[in-house]
Amino acid sequence: MKYRLSPGGALSGTVRVPGDKSISHRSIMLGALAKGTSRVSGFLEGEDALATVAAFRAMGVKIEGPRAGEVTVHGVGLHGLRAPRAPLDMGNAGTGMRLMSGLLAGQAFDSVLTGDASLSSRPMGRVMRPLRDMGAVIDAAEGDRPPLRITGGQALRGIDYALPMASAQVKSCVLLAGLYAAGRTSVAEPAPTRDHTERMLEGFGYPVRVEGNTASLAGGGELRARDIEVPADISSAAFFLVGASIAPGSDLLLTHVGVNPTRTGVIEILKLMGADIELQNRREVGGEPVADIRVRHARLRGIDVPEDLVPLAIDEFPVLFIAAACAEGTTRLTGAEELRVKESDRIASMAEGLDTLGVASEVLPDGIVIEGGGMGGGMGGGEIRTFGDHRIAMAFSIAALRAVEAITVLDCDHVATSFPGFDRIAAAAGLGIAAGEGDA
Ligand code: S3P
Repeated sequence: MKYRLSPGGALSGTVRVPGDKSISHRSIMLGALAKGTSRVSGFLEGEDALATVAAFRAMGVKIEGPRAGEVTVHGVGLHGLRAPRAPLDMGNAGTGMRLMSGLLAGQAFDSVLTGDASLSSRPMGRVMRPLRDMGAVIDAAEGDRPPLRITGGQALRGIDYALPMASAQVKSCVLLAGLYAAGRTSVAEPAPTRDHTERMLEGFGYPVRVEGNTASLAGGGELRARDIEVPADISSAAFFLVGASIAPGSDLLLTHVGVNPTRTGVIEILKLMGADIELQNRREVGGEPVADIRVRHARLRGIDVPEDLVPLAIDEFPVLFIAAACAEGTTRLTGAEELRVKESDRIASMAEGLDTLGVASEVLPDGIVIEGGGMGGGMGGGEIRTFGDHRIAMAFSIAALRAVEAITVLDCDHVATSFPGFDRIAAAAGLGIAAGEGDA
């Protein structure tokens, strides 16, 4: 499937984007491992989170839905999963595979985790190393790539692990394995990353101690079922935050967006660039901060992105690069080498597309320098390759708001992994987008 975009336009009205991907994955995992029935609302019905649902069904967990974002998970307790008959296919989802590897390391049975072509090329050594330190038996294909083969029935022991990179997936993997380990498991992170696992474990009645940069828990406890309301995904809202910021005449309200401080780097970076963004109606929903966000067009300026904001905006850089392309002056990003091992190498993917649109950039090993065009000239058009990466597809769709020629974004099927209905919701807000048949 490809998107055809007509140039120009503005975004307005009220938009509620689908549920948070990170929280949706975790709601199924913890709901399945809890005692009792958990009802989830606002669940993301995207392919990534649905792969997690399918994996737990394959391990004997009864899950009803999703139906209009409602899912009922009949938890089986920490020791109630059954051996799956076939490999568990996590699709495109790094989160699914890395978090599952932690909790499967603690099971009595063997399991295999597989994924699509993109996931099969992503590094898994980062979870294998700490899991092996805990006593897990886990193997991968060459270069520590999926499939992951986990031999169950091991006695895990708690470890104190210093994360070598800022990764919520690795942190969560180790904490989930820690549920099954003897003694305490602690994870220290080099910079704050999303803390949904810690918050949700607490919500399920499992004590997590957080002191400074370290989260720890003791194995051998129990999770108690609870209901979860998943907020809208700030990573999906980000496309509209940038779209409304760059397109003259825009005035948009994004409702019920999760604004956990470990996720709001995109707002902080856009504000440093001069964006007009206002958080309204702040509230707390099920242990997660939520707000409505009003965003209006503004003249953006290029910045040096503060490195401490990088992990807090890690999934939002593709669309932030579009903001940089429209800003006055130069934007410089460093300290972001993690972007190279996402669903695609996002530095390389974005640099190629920006070049197609006539935007000059310089690729760095750990970032990029982008020369913004300011409010003067618009970007050009052309055909964009996405490398099967959902966020590259959506970022270049948003770029059309400030292009002067049509843009065709190829190979957009993966948008459904995180943002089902993107084209429909974006069109309703004012983007000139049409989905068509045909692929790369
Ligand atoms: C996620 C953590 C991040 C992020 C991913 C979701 C999570 O990955 O990029 O989309 O839900 O824990 P890393 O841990 O690799 O940074």
